[in-house]
Amino acid sequence: MKLEGNDWIYSKKVKEHFLNPKNFLKNKKEIKDFDGHGVVGNMKCGDLMEMWIKVKNDKIIDVKWSTFGCASAIASTSILSEMLKEKGGTPLKKALKITGKDITKRLGGLPAIKIHCSVLGDQALRAAIYDYAQKNNRTDLKVEKPLEEEHH
Ligand code: FES
Repeated sequence: MKLEGNDWIYSKKVKEHFLNPKNFLKNKKEIKDFDGHGVVGNMKCGDLMEMWIKVKNDKIIDVKWSTFGCASAIASTSILSEMLKEKGGTPLKKALKITGKDITKRLGGLPAIKIHCSVLGDQALRAAIYDYAQKNNRTDLKVEKPLEEEHH
């Protein structure tokens, strides 16, 4: 494979978030009163992403996440967690509209082969909202059941 173009250049933002990830779970105590939890696996690479959300007045006011994924997954989810928490939190329905594209845009782009990593956080977020909706009988949220994790 020939490597050329900008495909291998990470933006400054990506590096910043990779080196200093925001809202990364350090201690389980941090999530003890959180309201939703999601885990998803990436079909392409087998990496896992976990996310926890804290909900108040129908808004996501806090987020924690954890992954064994790559640099792009770390940077994407870090920036996603910031996006969710800015301006005092994100309404659940609005959070469901965030896409991998919105995330990569905020990151200043990602190498094309790394795009699949940027949806990992976004899927984990949906899974966490699904969990919250189940526990709180929120059928109005219309969030799809996340794909089952594959066990090999
Ligand atoms: S290569 Fe697996 S998340 Fe990026």
